[in-house]
Amino acid sequence: MAINGSSQLYGILGDPVSHSLSPAMHNAAFAEYGLNNVYVPLPTKDVGDAITGLKSLGFRGISVTIPHKQTVIPYLDSIDPVAEKIGAVNTLIIKENRIHGVNTDWLGANRALQEKTELSGKRVLLLGAGGSARAIGFGLLEAGAEVIIANRTAEKGKALADLLQCSCASLSDPGGVQTDILINTTSVGMTPNIDATPFPKKYLSHFSVVMDIVYAPQKTRLLAEADEEGCQTINGLAMLLFQGAAQFELWTGQKAPVDIMRQHLLAGLNK
Ligand code: ATR
Repeated sequence: MAINGSSQLYGILGDPVSHSLSPAMHNAAFAEYGLNNVYVPLPTKDVGDAITGLKSLGFRGISVTIPHKQTVIPYLDSIDPVAEKIGAVNTLIIKENRIHGVNTDWLGANRALQEKTELSGKRVLLLGAGGSARAIGFGLLEAGAEVIIANRTAEKGKALADLLQCSCASLSDPGGVQTDILINTTSVGMTPNIDATPFPKKYLSHFSVVMDIVYAPQKTRLLAEADEEGCQTINGLAMLLFQGAAQFELWTGQKAPVDIMRQHLLAGLNK
């Protein structure tokens, strides 16, 4: 689709954004449906200035990434209730000069999980207590799952557990926790530290499903060991894909072409 005077504008706001895979994924999805839309990287230092600019330039939709997922909130006209609870927004919908903020990170995690398992009534051990754990944790509660937090720094784990009104477990003794699903939300195992794992292999057979939000490498040591222990596994690419698919659906009202989006994410990763 050639860009012309009628093209609708979308983009990703963050700092840095030069390595983002989102432009390839979203432009491919727009092209698949013949939509006259274009999605561009928007390296942004000052989020307030950027918001004023996006409104006046007529942008329709924005992905928000690090470090602006929290700082963008005061500039919104309205916010989705789950995003408000999470305290972070990764998606803007701009209509009639009004900006609505949503969080699709939790939607992406839930959809990636729901490809393999029900969530309602399931017990989930969540490793980590940072921003990703917070989004995924609230999302799991929305889906009716029970969450248990385990974090390296116990006080941070306890603080997130208090916020989510759930329990926490010790990372040094994970064997005593009976759960169905394990999710790593930490960066442990990410390139270049691919020999690291956030969880001992000997306990992995307790879980039916193991998900890692790390997507480089696609098969982390945690996922390789979970495979060996007979667990179903979900890699970080799935969450990235489905958070983008949810954005596409919010912006266009059409079902996202996930196979095309996945192909372009993979092509970008393998470059
Ligand atoms: P994000 O927003 O991506 O979740 P973050 O807020 O920096 O990132 O959170 C990172 C999480 O990964 C934290 O829970 C952190 O544990 P601490 O609270 O103890 O810092 C966890 N993490 C990072 N590196 C880790 C490591 N080497 N071992 C265990 N946990 C680690």
